Amino acid sequence: MEFCPVGPEDLETIAVLSEQYLTHGKKIKDDIRHHRDMNGYFGVKAVENGEMIGFYTCIEDDIIFTLPHPELKSEIEKITGGEKTITGDTLYVEAAWRGKGIASELARRITDMARERGGKYFLTEAWIHPEGVTPAKKIVTFNGEVIFEKIIPFFYRDLPKYGMECPICGKDCRCGAEVQLHRL
Ligand SMILES: CC(C)(COP(=O)(O)OP(=O)(O)OC[C@H]1O[C@@H](n2cnc3c(N)ncnc32)[C@H](O)[C@@H]1OP(=O)(O)O)[C@@H](O)C(=O)NCCC(=O)NCCS
Repeated sequence: MEFCPVGPEDLETIAVLSEQYLTHGKKIKDDIRHHRDMNGYFGVKAVENGEMIGFYTCIEDDIIFTLPHPELKSEIEKITGGEKTITGDTLYVEAAWRGKGIASELARRITDMARERGGKYFLTEAWIHPEGVTPAKKIVTFNGEVIFEKIIPFFYRDLPKYGMECPICGKDCRCGAEVQLHRL
């Protein structure tokens, strides 16, 4: 298995998989395609036999959630004080390859890349399924020391307002999020 930086040629696959498994809706696909110039966007992918089987992507220098949460954003901005903050955007490993530490390795590598780019903070939004499972809980521990954390029930309730829906709950999303700010 190889780990390499995400390039513009990967964006279409990332957009399609993110729409399928992370947040349904045209908006998420459009948001990802919008990064085609790779300006302020970077990521790392796991490749096996020439196929991308996992990725972790980030947005540089901004505090961004799947959908707007302006109060939370300003609470975090008070901590970061304008210092360079990297936001985790999408994290996915193909089902057949899960449980082998691939996401953890992607997280270690993206954290190194974020540091190399001069990032001071790394923001993560870990999805909490309705039954309470948080798939990325352990993985985001590789994104640096946690200095702020908020667990927000029904974080995705307004997805339909923004042209999206939850792949688990549909339009009436009951999932929460564990939002963490990490020091890099
Ligand atoms: C979440 C995901 C990226 C994990 O990928 P992975 O390569 O299997 O993760 P790892 O093997 O590195 O697992 C690291 C740890 O997380 C735990 N973990 C992984 N997936 C989990 C899940 N679905 N639920 C609970 N814990 C999980 C593992 O048990 C492991 O813990 P351990 O070190 O104690 O054994 C993968 O399941 C996925 O793509 N899921 C669908 C998309 C998704 O939920 N993305 C995250 C959105 S915030």
